[in-house]
Amino acid sequence: MSQQWLLLALLSAFAAPSTAGDSMTATDSLSDGGGALVSSNELYKLGFFSPNNSNRRYLGIWYHKIQVQTVVWVANREHPILDRTGVLNFTENGTLVILDQTGTVFWSSSSATNTSSPVARLLDSGNLVLMDGAGDTNVFAWQSFDHPTDTHMPGMKFGWDLRTGLNRYLTSWKSADDPSPGEYTIMIDLHGWPQVLTRDLSVVTFRTGPWNGLRWNGAPKLMANSIYNYTYVSNNDEVYYMYQLRSDAVVTRLFLDHSGAFERVVWDNGTQLWTKYLSGPNDMCNSGFSPKSPSDWNLREAKGGCVRNTKLGCGEGGDGFMKLSDVKVPDSSNATVDATMGFDECAKKCLMNCSCTAYATSNISSGIGCLNWFGELIDSRTYPNGGQDLYVRLAALDLDEGGHRKKKWPILFEEEEMVDKETE
Ligand SMILES: *[C@@H]1O[C@H](CO)[C@@H](O)[C@H](O)[C@H]1NC(C)=O
Ligand SMILES: *[C@@H]1O[C@H](CO)[C@@H](O)[C@H](O)[C@H]1NC(C)=O
Ligand SMILES: *[C@@H]1O[C@H](CO)[C@@H](O)[C@H](O)[C@H]1NC(C)=O
Ligand SMILES: *[C@@H]1O[C@H](CO)[C@@H](O)[C@H](O)[C@H]1NC(C)=O
Ligand SMILES: *[C@@H]1O[C@H](CO)[C@@H](O)[C@H](O)[C@H]1NC(C)=O
Ligand SMILES: *[C@@H]1O[C@H](CO)[C@@H](O)[C@H](O)[C@H]1NC(C)=O
Ligand SMILES: *[C@@H]1O[C@H](CO)[C@@H](O)[C@H](O)[C@H]1NC(C)=O
Ligand SMILES: *[C@@H]1O[C@H](CO)[C@@H](O)[C@H](O)[C@H]1NC(C)=O
Ligand SMILES: *[C@@H]1O[C@H](CO)[C@@H](O)[C@H](O)[C@H]1NC(C)=O
Repeated sequence: MSQQWLLLALLSAFAAPSTAGDSMTATDSLSDGGGALVSSNELYKLGFFSPNNSNRRYLGIWYHKIQVQTVVWVANREHPILDRTGVLNFTENGTLVILDQTGTVFWSSSSATNTSSPVARLLDSGNLVLMDGAGDTNVFAWQSFDHPTDTHMPGMKFGWDLRTGLNRYLTSWKSADDPSPGEYTIMIDLHGWPQVLTRDLSVVTFRTGPWNGLRWNGAPKLMANSIYNYTYVSNNDEVYYMYQLRSDAVVTRLFLDHSGAFERVVWDNGTQLWTKYLSGPNDMCNSGFSPKSPSDWNLREAKGGCVRNTKLGCGEGGDGFMKLSDVKVPDSSNATVDATMGFDECAKKCLMNCSCTAYATSNISSGIGCLNWFGELIDSRTYPNGGQDLYVRLAALDLDEGGHRKKKWPILFEEEEMVDKETE
């Protein structure tokens, strides 16, 4: 055996553990310090890590080639391992588990493959999947995309599988150095007409508004763009939002930061930094409404929302509707929707019910579909571009305060007219 050959053999033997593949099978295990899975496109890596300023060990997924450690998923976020003896293993049932040297279980995948040939694979999308290696490899017994932490990845369904009750939503890290569940969550709320809500513990801090057929009504900046496309699916089986990258050259993620900000960032390979692409909240109240708690609007978290200046009367004196353009529609959790009702009928339906406070079309792309709101209109505001038309019931007092001639009831004001009145 030549020395050169021996050297090569030695080198490749040492290289072997670090050039891990993208999958592991029943007899494989992945130990802390001893291995990792790398997706075949080399974008993502699964292994044990410690956050900045922490010695705690977690199994997670991060960007393989990005130097700034950017973790997109954490398995044992609630149960860190305090030493470096952690190992990811299969049970005899085909479940994935994280154990330490004492055999203590720190995490386990909730489903098993029920076969003797389970395979765990880190896909090019960054999804860790568990499948039956002897069966259909497109059927997953378990997948990390069904159990997101704080990051919404391209190709991941954000929302509900109504058949199983699975709700895929994000929970912030506790702090930049601690992946345990923080106080912020963001999810699709199914009450009334579905919308996306961010909560600080149980208090709603941000609403995207409902899907209006083209985008989240209150996220006007979310428009067609060169980086990704998106889709919203709402049927009897599923309600979810998903985005997909137009090009593999772009690295972007949407995440709920530990301070509650929901942000989209794009990796800038030139500066080697994540740059902000979109973020929320970003809001102002409409005319006729004041901030419920004006001081809240000076903070980024607008917890209070907007309230009506004058209480509504119904019947005598008459209420009218003010048309507001480009608005984020109010909280739709108590709204009713009739998906087949046309626009005129929608207006009538609202007028005829004294508790109806506003109406709008539920699908701006078809103009069909009727949303009616009842009670206080919470958290409605105007956007320079985007949003949609909202018809708000106002008391006669609000409509006439500028001294304009009385209009026939019902009155439809254009937003411009309201502005005129207020400046007189
Ligand atoms: C992990 O699985 C392998 C193969 O089944 C087994 O030999 C090993 O004891 C397991 N490790 C732990 C810590 O359970
Ligand atoms: C970790 O700390 C380094 C050095 O202080 C910093 O540059 C980096 O941004 C931090 N990473 C995260 C994810 O906070
Ligand atoms: C495997 O499944 C059986 C039957 O559900 C259960 O009793 C057993 O505890 C499981 N074993 C492991 C290691 O999870
Ligand atoms: C594994 O078996 C359990 C219990 O019989 C079943 O509920 C589950 O759906 C099975 N999982 C797969 C992937 O077949
Ligand atoms: C979005 O782009 C992906 C990748 O080009 C494509 O496969 C998918 O069909 C597109 N989806 C929509 C809703 O346009
Ligand atoms: C990122 O930049 C490095 C040099 O800084 C270059 O070698 C690499 O090809 C770039 N990657 C991409 C995806 O542009
Ligand atoms: C919806 O109705 C419930 C029960 O009446 C009430 O507690 C809640 O404040 C309402 N939400 C909105 C946004 O109007
Ligand atoms: C007005 O609408 C509310 C909510 O749908 C409903 O509960 C109520 O019965 C309606 N009132 C009338 C008079 O139709
Ligand atoms: C909205 O209308 C468009 C055009 O008619 C239709 O393709 C789409 O499915 C509708 N969206 C919803 C959520 O109903």
